[in-house]
Amino acid sequence: MRSDKKIIIAIDGFSSTGKSTVAKQLASKLGYIYVDTGAMYRMVALFALENGCIDTSNFDSKKLISLLDNVELSFVFNAELGFAEAYLNNKNVEKRIRTLEVSKYVSTVASISEIRVKLVDIQQEMGKNKGLVMDGRDIGTVVFPDAELKLFMNASASTRAQRRFDELIAKGEEVTYDEVFENVTSRDAQDTSRKDSPLVKAEHAIEINNSNLTRKQQFDKIYKLAVLAVEA
Ligand code: DC
Repeated sequence: MRSDKKIIIAIDGFSSTGKSTVAKQLASKLGYIYVDTGAMYRMVALFALENGCIDTSNFDSKKLISLLDNVELSFVFNAELGFAEAYLNNKNVEKRIRTLEVSKYVSTVASISEIRVKLVDIQQEMGKNKGLVMDGRDIGTVVFPDAELKLFMNASASTRAQRRFDELIAKGEEVTYDEVFENVTSRDAQDTSRKDSPLVKAEHAIEINNSNLTRKQQFDKIYKLAVLAVEA
């Protein structure tokens, strides 16, 4: 493989399709930067929860938009864990953004155009030197429509809900499978139907349905596509 050529790899797809697992592995194998854009939307949702923009019955989007300049997002590489952790206003929030509470509000937060504009700007800046694997919902359609490799990941809703449920239980969260299934399917509906940058398969994206693939089979398949894209 010609190692001097660096490309952008855009990975989009539904919730809990294992995008971040494969993106992390791929970035580490290629020596690329990995960016989890879902974590960025999750940080804004956490900020909204912590700053009185959301209570159980009401979401104050105007207030959140007015506070956006106070939201500083960054990622700091943790060598022990082998990946970059999410920091909101210089505080490590990696664990807090993965809770079901944040998951319940994140798609609503992600539907606000002012928020998307801010995050897309940051994401495009991160890719200006290429050598990047980025995952999300609009990476191949909006953030990097010219990415050299675009993937669209999918799996059945029940497979995805089971994976997310197992992850949350392993982290000690008290959740039921039904709650998680409801969250996964309602986020799918919100993410695909929003007006601004809905989740759709980008032009030229290669679809990977991993319901019946092991992690290794999936990684091998995607790594081959990455090598072809670098050599193209
Ligand atoms: O990848 P994730 O499940 O952590 O993403 C959380 C939410 O953020 C998801 O429901 C939709 C939104 N999102 C988005 O709208 N655009 C992105 N590029 C990434 C995530």
